[in-house]
Amino acid sequence: MTVDFVPPYPYRFPRPPPAWQRLWIGRKNFVAMWEASAFELEFSSSRILNRETFLCNSPDSVKFAFNLHNASFERKAPQMRHALAPLIGDGLFISDGPLWKARRKMVAPIIHTTRLSQFAPVMVETIVETRNRWASLASPRIDALSEMANLTAEIIARTIFGRELGRVYTEEVVNGFSDYQKTIGQLDLISLLGLPEWLPRFHAPAVHRAQRRIHTVLDGIVQNIKARRATGETSLIAQLLDAKDAETGEALSDEAIRNEAAVLFMAGHETTANTLAWAWYLLSQAPDVEARLHAEIDSVLGGQRPGLADVARLPFTQAVIEETLRLYPPVPILPREALQEETYNGRRIPKGSLIFVVPWLLHRHKKLWDKPDHFIPDRFMPDRAGAISKFAYIPFSIGPRVCAGMSFGLTEAILSLATLAQQFRLRMPMGSKVDPVCRLTLRPDGGLPMTLEPRIAAAPLSAGAGTQVEAACPYHQAK
Ligand code: HEM
Repeated sequence: MTVDFVPPYPYRFPRPPPAWQRLWIGRKNFVAMWEASAFELEFSSSRILNRETFLCNSPDSVKFAFNLHNASFERKAPQMRHALAPLIGDGLFISDGPLWKARRKMVAPIIHTTRLSQFAPVMVETIVETRNRWASLASPRIDALSEMANLTAEIIARTIFGRELGRVYTEEVVNGFSDYQKTIGQLDLISLLGLPEWLPRFHAPAVHRAQRRIHTVLDGIVQNIKARRATGETSLIAQLLDAKDAETGEALSDEAIRNEAAVLFMAGHETTANTLAWAWYLLSQAPDVEARLHAEIDSVLGGQRPGLADVARLPFTQAVIEETLRLYPPVPILPREALQEETYNGRRIPKGSLIFVVPWLLHRHKKLWDKPDHFIPDRFMPDRAGAISKFAYIPFSIGPRVCAGMSFGLTEAILSLATLAQQFRLRMPMGSKVDPVCRLTLRPDGGLPMTLEPRIAAAPLSAGAGTQVEAACPYHQAK
């Protein structure tokens, strides 16, 4: 008989903590501020300082806010906007209204599902380089989180920035993002008090230092792509130079291009990196799951590199990634601000109130999931996944603001796990402990020290069958 692994989660209060305590804890770790009964709530309201807040924690209320009435709730909450503004300015991730619409039209095509056949070989080439580097390391000890962050950043650099960045710059940006997270707090009190938007927000000098590090590299890239374009060389990010606002017909300024480059870099590397780090951790603690993953990879790939068409042939690998995204959603909170008054089931939601959709709660909801805290990838196998409501499982959000890189991220995660697990398993050192911490994204606190263990001799480096075949996004085929 197999025993399901129950991975660690932060302490849950027996009763709702006082507002000041919730805020204090939430500033440092958003997933640690909840009481046990929050995992059963469907819709609730409370007052935090001066602000009316609503928690949408059922498929019905998520559908209401993010789908049926998205226009009323499309604005990101001021806390999130102010936390990210120094880094991404008016970038797509935190803009709304006509600006968001225009930017989404410009940015989404760059990473669209139809480009996967172009991206997948570059992804696999980069993953194989990491695998080869692991094979040549003098010491088997790695930090799985930073390894995954460097890998996913390198993939973004090569697919979107056109090999422009180089490993040194990629690492500089990755470290900059990591420092930025450490110093920023998501719950800014000025915004919670409902004070005006124009009031300056205080950010610690370390936030500005991290921001300058990232901007210096990205500004250099914008100048470089402009110069290179004159010589006929191009990259996907260069599309932004030609993009024109549908309404005004105006081109983007250098600063706007830098902001969107920062969005793509931030949204595109850290989320997938955290997913992969958590997946390695979960696999290291669940030997039966790990054995099934290895069996699938070995029989489907037969020691060859995977290609895009193989992704649809790796349902258990995909299920491991999806279950990881359920237990540790990289973006565990989706906060919004009501742009106009709405009514949900007879409850008035005033203009200006805060709406929280919280994948962290929804994905572990006691009424929606069997054994919600257990690691059970089987629940995402194609014969069972149909029972899951698309408004109960939202690691990529849902509605018009859904992640623009969903197919990119899922394909990348599946290819990375499959390619690296062909040759390695990762182990936790004895006695080590893992704490989930969320500021902007949910990651293992202080990184994830693990040990590499070779599974088999180096796999042949020839191309796998799948590299030749084009396929649509495996995620959408399976669902
Ligand atoms: C496992 C991987 C990923 C996860 C879990 C994820 C999750 C999310 C979520 C939850 C949002 C919406 C945030 C909100 O509503 O506040 C989002 C937005 C976004 N993501 Fe992802 N993401 C992933 C990978 C990627 C990748 C690889 C890219 C780009 C290559 C990307 C690009 C974006 C962009 C551009 C947005 C902003 C969309 C908009 O506001 O219109 N994401 N992502």
